[in-house]
Amino acid sequence: MNARAILSLGLSVALAPTVAFAQDKPDAPALYQQYCAQCHGATLQGGNGQSLVDGIWNFGGSSGSIRRNIKHGITHLGMPAYEGAMEDDDIRALTDFLLAKEKEGGAEKPPVPSEVQTQDYIVGVETWVEGLDTPWGMAFLDDDTALITERPGTLRLVKGGKLADAPITGTPVVHAEGQGGLLDVATDPDYIDNGWIYLAYSHSLEPNEEGGKRPAMTRIVRGKLKDGAWTEEQTLFEAPKDTYVVSGVHYGCRIVFDAEGHLYFSIGERGSQDHAQDLSKPNGKVHRIHRDGTIPDDNPFVKTAGALPSIYTYGNRNPQGLAVSKATGLLWESEHGPMGGDELNVMASGKNYGWPVITYGRNYNGSSVSDLTRKEGMEQPRHYWRPSIAVCGIDIYTGSQFPKWENAVLVGALRYESVAVLQTEGDHVLHEETILKNVGRVRDVVTGPEGAIYVVTNSPNAVLRLTARGERSY
Ligand code: HEC
Repeated sequence: MNARAILSLGLSVALAPTVAFAQDKPDAPALYQQYCAQCHGATLQGGNGQSLVDGIWNFGGSSGSIRRNIKHGITHLGMPAYEGAMEDDDIRALTDFLLAKEKEGGAEKPPVPSEVQTQDYIVGVETWVEGLDTPWGMAFLDDDTALITERPGTLRLVKGGKLADAPITGTPVVHAEGQGGLLDVATDPDYIDNGWIYLAYSHSLEPNEEGGKRPAMTRIVRGKLKDGAWTEEQTLFEAPKDTYVVSGVHYGCRIVFDAEGHLYFSIGERGSQDHAQDLSKPNGKVHRIHRDGTIPDDNPFVKTAGALPSIYTYGNRNPQGLAVSKATGLLWESEHGPMGGDELNVMASGKNYGWPVITYGRNYNGSSVSDLTRKEGMEQPRHYWRPSIAVCGIDIYTGSQFPKWENAVLVGALRYESVAVLQTEGDHVLHEETILKNVGRVRDVVTGPEGAIYVVTNSPNAVLRLTARGERSY
């Protein structure tokens, strides 16, 4: 018997028809307390089940997804199905109630703390730069100067902690749609001597005949800064035109260098998951080129007929983080999985990382992508997140401020609005600690001058700076 039935049974006899009509409307707060509070908490703050007011909807935040989750449950994770227990009207009212509470909860979101206690350090947190528009990537030019990309297409300079008013002029025209735009920025390993700066962005072609949409793909250029202008641009990687895809998602775009100076960059599968396994397509891959755009002779597929010679690894869904460890030389990669399949990988030449043949995730509507989580000839992640944290930029920490984190992987997350420190040994993850939470959607994490950690966030659009204020012993 459902809550409404209990109410009307108790009250219907005594009440006038107009009041009885009012009783017929589902009482969402009462339904919540009866059915949901035991797991999700009396104030929706979480308990056995997750918080329903933190803005994180791992299984979809639209009204339709929430209704579906209540109706059919997420039974393999312990969320019961209420199809038999509640009418559609009850489920709809409950959904409206959850969304309204989430809005209230959002308004009460705590401010970014000025200090956090981690297991090893008391960490000072300050806003270093604000007033940005969807910042995505960041790179230091020297101890005092950094460049920050803004996804809509602008490159901004920060000097002495102050954001220059005018963006850099002359940067490439980007295809700013969906997840695309001006994405990563990186400096040459020999920047002091040669001044080269690298950009990754979404590049589009003229609209195609059907539908008038612009096909787009990731493009890599380099250039130099002169008097606030982007100059001497060279295109280092441009995909064959017939591989461009009409889609707003999964551009990848992170750029890093290894100790020998090879340039690695990522391209997500652009929403065409099967392309990730196709070596004639640039998407769903990590690529490796020389800094002038030429192809290294020892790339894994230079002799494979039909393969793009820049491909280094394949089977990658949407690599959002790349970082090379100075200590081990390993190339770490983070990639957005589908629901519940975010991965941290160690990349090795010519390897297949399995998407979409193997995955720890499911489609966002709960249906299965693949029954397989492992397969001969395909790499396992070093770590994966279920539920998804929406893993984003990563860095390998090296610096004087946090010696206990030396060579740990710093991991930013959009959905969890968090930064985690993953202690590793060789290519193994030993321990994960979330050091920052609810600070905005974290796009990138960068070790900066004097070993401070810089955290690029969206909503609020800012860069935070983390410094050590003292050690803690545990
Ligand atoms: C027996 C415990 C339990 C009860 C009772 C329960 N839930 Fe859940 N619920 C869960 C668990 C566990 C999850 C999945 C958590 C995870 O692993 O991410 C979940 C997930 C959800 C989600 C998806 C959240 C997201 O991130 O997308 C919604 C919405 C939800 N529950 C609503 C409800 C509502 C409304 C009720 C009452 C009608 C309810 N739940 C009752 C345990 C419960």
